[in-house]
Amino acid sequence: MRINKFIAQAGLASRRGADKLIEAGRVRVNGGVLLEPGYDVRPEDQVTVDGKPLSAPEKKVYYALYKPAGYVTTVSDPQGRPTVMDLVADIPERIYPVGRLDLQTSGLLIMTNDGDFARALMHPSSQIGKVYRVLIAGGISKEAVSRLRAGVDIGGFVTSRARVDLLHWDRHASLLEIEIHEGKNRQVRRMFKAVGHPVEQLERISIGSLGLGRLRPGKYRRLNPDEVRRLLGECHG
Ligand code: URA
Repeated sequence: MRINKFIAQAGLASRRGADKLIEAGRVRVNGGVLLEPGYDVRPEDQVTVDGKPLSAPEKKVYYALYKPAGYVTTVSDPQGRPTVMDLVADIPERIYPVGRLDLQTSGLLIMTNDGDFARALMHPSSQIGKVYRVLIAGGISKEAVSRLRAGVDIGGFVTSRARVDLLHWDRHASLLEIEIHEGKNRQVRRMFKAVGHPVEQLERISIGSLGLGRLRPGKYRRLNPDEVRRLLGECHG
């Protein structure tokens, strides 16, 4: 990796800023002042800036976490509630959640330390499908299902077409699966409220080709390179 990128990835400066540090003679490689701005850093090199060692950039890692309800999807919570970070405390890399699930929503959450990957997945143009399982009180009408499919006004925004499957239906409760390609704040809850059925339980069961599989609530697993590549391939835009 080029020395300026190496310094930038360590969070010390932008690449241009790194070039200036090199020009100013503040960068040393294996003890000697670096004179060559295009130097390629080797894994065994010891790089210092102003005498302070830089560590190699963290390896990119990707995890699927089964978030239980009752955990906030933030890195820290001023109110002291349990956060998803508590569930991944033994992962050494500095990972963070890709997007978010509401406090009371459970299900699949991807976590990574790869900013480019997180941005690609979360960008509105990504259009990656997210499937939710939704439990509501009462029997849902055919008309309400049609409205969810066609798009509903959730207050200043009309949702685009969605796949909606009715899994179970009786007088007391309905269980549905909905696939959306947008990620507005509390979108699924707002969609069901708009058709007169506040959500009682909400769980995300997949993001693109990645499902919960055999994960148990509160547990995580590492994604393999194929899974990561496939997810990226499913992002449009
Ligand atoms: N839609 C919601 O309403 N809540 C979530 O957590 C995710 C999608």
